[in-house]
Amino acid sequence: MNCLFDLDGVLVDTAKYHYIAWRNLAKRLGFDFTEQDNERLKGVSRMASLEILLEVGGLTDKFTNEEKEQMAAEKNAEYVRLITQMTPEEILPGARDFLTALRAAGIGVALGSASKNAQTILDRLQLTSLFDVIIDGTKVSKAKPDPEVFLKGAEALGAQPSDCCVFEDAAAGIEAARRGGMHCIGIGNPSVLSHADFCVDALADMTVDRLKQLFC
Ligand code: BG6
Ligand code: MG
Repeated sequence: MNCLFDLDGVLVDTAKYHYIAWRNLAKRLGFDFTEQDNERLKGVSRMASLEILLEVGGLTDKFTNEEKEQMAAEKNAEYVRLITQMTPEEILPGARDFLTALRAAGIGVALGSASKNAQTILDRLQLTSLFDVIIDGTKVSKAKPDPEVFLKGAEALGAQPSDCCVFEDAAAGIEAARRGGMHCIGIGNPSVLSHADFCVDALADMTVDRLKQLFC
């Protein structure tokens, strides 16, 4: 068995920082962007997130691609300012212990994240050394629910997809794992993550024994 982890919402709650930066962009454009709107951005790539934000503001098709690239760059500059202040205390409950236990058990560990900022976040959290493989938004061309990010992770681990388990908090990520032929554990609300094999509230609920009982 090998394990592939989404980052945002699984190992750390970066959604609050994405929200601050997207809400400020919406403010500059003259509309309100609520926390409920922000839920729609989980697991969604940066440019697809911008399209959702513009739709919320009734501004679809109002900007050129160049203007959109500029807005996404502004948002990202603010987001990067926020995440570079992060500390290891922000690692979600149980995540570090579970990653450490997997490695001690000789289980391959990969990151499979849509974020182009994943390496910065892992470094800030001091988690980089716990991963055998890191596949992030800089290494893929197709966003989740396409399985590319997880298939590349499995390949780099030297594992068959059927011998991999993905940990995901977003419906698009669960679908990506499924389409890649992998097992999948949802982190969060089972009604949102209904296509997962199994759901837990947090990685604090996971142990190596439980993983083996489920899939080995
Ligand atoms: C995902 C987040 O992990 O990464 C999304 O859930 C985010 O909300 C996406 O849009 C892309 O992140 P970034 O850091 O490349 O803008
Ligand atoms: Mg996520």
